[in-house]
Amino acid sequence: MNYETLLVEVRERVGLITLNRPQALNALNSQLIAELNQALDRLEADPEVGCLVITGSAKAFAAGADIKEMADKGFPQIYLDDFFAAADRIAARRKPIIAAVAGYALGGGCELALMCDFIYAADTARFGLPELSLGVIPGIGGTQRLTRALGKAKAMELCLTGRQLHAEEAERAGLVARVLPAAELLERTLEAARGIAGKSLPAAMMIKECVNRAEEIGLAEGVRFERRLFHSLFASHDQKEGMQAFVAKRAPNFRHH
Ligand code: HXC
Repeated sequence: MNYETLLVEVRERVGLITLNRPQALNALNSQLIAELNQALDRLEADPEVGCLVITGSAKAFAAGADIKEMADKGFPQIYLDDFFAAADRIAARRKPIIAAVAGYALGGGCELALMCDFIYAADTARFGLPELSLGVIPGIGGTQRLTRALGKAKAMELCLTGRQLHAEEAERAGLVARVLPAAELLERTLEAARGIAGKSLPAAMMIKECVNRAEEIGLAEGVRFERRLFHSLFASHDQKEGMQAFVAKRAPNFRHH
């Protein structure tokens, strides 16, 4: 399938989605969000894919929601359309998604990276929420996810001042899992994704769901939730295979069910 705003390919059980609106620094318009959801639907449905990577260009992961598309909209329309609600589906995916971020990840671009399960950043990456300068606020979960990722002090500062975090500071603050040299970003992210995709898919999906739950519910409930999913994996082929392989001192042959 061809997309106008994305490049999509599958390499060794990894679905790679490259945002591709270079003329607008990958600004997220409705078409891009719709195509991103279509691509994610297809990659999630593909049994040959176990992990996803979303990346952008060397200059911009994404420079925000598309300001030109939003500028003339009025309140009743944007409310009726539930504008940008479609983006919520990105965070609700089952398969693990890594964001590989180089250059600008601003506004909605930063929020898109935050909706992924973890972020690998090039040393060129810049994260920021500049919406206040446009007379608006983040609208795809930025105030919520940034506060959970960084704590109130830094999240409040970034939202109110628009200051950009460079990659090193973003890693120190806990927004980014690793910082990599720009030239190695994609290859090393794909390497991590291949590693995840080679493991048991049901177990990987449940880890994702459990860690995400930790942000939503209390500890006792979260531990119970994790325990039930842990128990359920004993109904899978991959649990038998993984543990028998360990005992037999051989490599496991996961079948992802
Ligand atoms: C639409 C954008 C854009 C955006 C860049 N462009 N960002 N178009 N929406 N968010 C376009 C520019 O208009 C320009 O088009 C082309 O991309 C290249 O950008 P330049 O500004 O010429 O590049 P540069 O001088 O290198 O500056 C890069 C930049 C700057 C610092 C990233 O582009 C910038 O500040 N962009 C806006 C960042 C921003 O405010 N993001 C938050 C958006 S609001 P032309 O046609 O002139 O060549 C948001 C809300 C989320 O995200 C909530 C949604 C519900």
